[in-house]
This record gives sequence, structure tokens and C-alpha cells, in this order.
Amino acid sequence: MPYAESTVPAAGSGPAGTRPAGTPTAEAVPQRVATPRRLLMCPPRHFDVNYSINPWMEPEKPTDQGSAQLQWERLYDLYRELGHTVELIRPEPGLPDMVFAANGATVVDGKVLGARFRHAQRTAEGPGYLDWFREQGYTDLLWPEHINEGEGDYLLVGRRLLAGTGFRTDQRSHAEAQEFFGVPVTGLTLVDPRFYHLDTALAVLSDDEVMYYPEAFSPGSRAVLRELYPDAVLATAEDAEVFGLNAFSDGRHVLLSSAATHLIGELKGRGFEPIGIDLPELMKAGGGAKCCTLELRDS
Ligand code: ARG
Repeated sequence: MPYAESTVPAAGSGPAGTRPAGTPTAEAVPQRVATPRRLLMCPPRHFDVNYSINPWMEPEKPTDQGSAQLQWERLYDLYRELGHTVELIRPEPGLPDMVFAANGATVVDGKVLGARFRHAQRTAEGPGYLDWFREQGYTDLLWPEHINEGEGDYLLVGRRLLAGTGFRTDQRSHAEAQEFFGVPVTGLTLVDPRFYHLDTALAVLSDDEVMYYPEAFSPGSRAVLRELYPDAVLATAEDAEVFGLNAFSDGRHVLLSSAATHLIGELKGRGFEPIGIDLPELMKAGGGAKCCTLELRDS
């Protein structure tokens, strides 16, 4: 569907949304409005699984770079068809996980917090991504003191930054991020190694809505999530296992694994427009659609 058609203003917000008197209301299902985003992606030119730093990665299994490229291009095309702007960073040889742009940095209000990776195999990606931001003219950049894996573990919901820890991002990074961005940072502890980054266990749907898999979090973090988002969409184990939470939402369209059938039904019921997107080749590295996407929140 062309982007313009999906940006109908919410009912009551202007002439186009005004309902004629007597028309039945659909109060329970909100009208969802997409907002165009600027995204950064990295083509999987050097994609491979030749080391293992999460339970999904099995280096002895063959990968196919050509398939990875085609699957990734479908995601890239879809973003553009939906009206988003996609910037590209040049993939570097020897960095097979660089395709997972979400991990490259965290950008809020045009400020860029660099990524400092936990594993040596990915260390060089941090400065590589930060150089891209410098070249693009970003001036408010921070090379971090503590380990953090960018938007893999930092997810902005409205003006609150949810921050994962437990496997990758160091908890001390949360205070560093709060100080740098000046937005409240809420730490959440991940406990299941299959869901090692926050963006594998929780997805942001709108400025105040999320969906998540409760079992991926410690009991305390689960309680925090219930408190903050009592109406959240809860994922089943099956949804989480097919990486259904590694999803991207523009406020209306939600791009996620087509196998996450329970989530897809829940999203439709809430007025979202789920779009199935599958990246089986990249999944061999433990990554999905959201992992391939870094949001450039320039203002
Ligand atoms: N193989 C990569 C790793 O383990 C996958 C990263 C996925 N990225 C993400 N944002 N969850 O680091």
C-alpha cells in the first residue's frame, strides 16, 4: 500500500478523520498513524557465521551470502515502499555481523552514543559506525566508557529509554546513557540466552505501547514492565522463538516474522498493520528485521 494511503489522520484530528454523525464508532480499535523514519542499514556483503556468540549461531552450518543479500533487499525495499528513508553504511570485510546495524549506535535527539561490543569479533564495528556518523556531520557523539550494543539493548518508547542488560550491555552503561541523552533510562534484565539483546525480547509499537516475551526477563524486570505497560501485547514462547519480537513499527505498520502468528493476530486486533518479513539466512546469526535497522532520530 502506498505510504500516503496509510497516513490517514486519526479520527477527530482533522477534516479527513471526522466521522459523519451516526456512523458507528470503532472506539476499541484505534486508528494507527505511520510516521516516516530515517533508518540506517548495512548490506550483508560479508555476511557469514564463522564464530558463535549466541545460541543461534552454528558455524558448522553453511550460510549463503546470495540468499542473505536477497532477503535483506526485500526488507530495504519494504522500508522505502512504506515511505521511510534508508541510509547505507559500507560493509567491511571481516565483520560478518555488521549487517546488524541496530547494534552500531544509539541515536536520540541527534545525539549519538557509540557502541562498544562485548565480544572481540565485533569490536571494530563500534568505531566503524561512529565514523559514519562523524562523516555525516553529527557533532554530538560519545565514545562510551561501558559496553553497550546500541539499539540491540536500547529501545526508545516515547521519551523513555528501555535498556537491556544480562548478556551484552553492561548495566553501568545505563547511567552513562541517561547522563548523555537526558532521558529516563529503565534497566531490564534478560535471563534467557536465546534472547540475548533487548530487541529479541521486546518491541516498541508506539510512543507508549510495547510487546514482549515475559519469560525472557528476570522477575523484577517483568514486574517493572507490567507496571509501565499494563496493556502490553504479550508474546508466546512460539512468537519469541521465531524472533517475532525483533520487529520494527512505524506506528502503523509492524514488520515482523511471518511465523509469529499469535502476535500478528494481536496486532491486527489493536489496529496495527502487521507485515510478515522473513530473513532465514540472517536468522542463522541470531538476527531479524529489527537487528538490521538502526533508527536515526535526528530530532
Ligand atoms: N550475531 C549477532 C550477535 O550475536 C547478532 C546480532 C543481532 N542484533 C540485534 N540487534 N539483536 O551479536
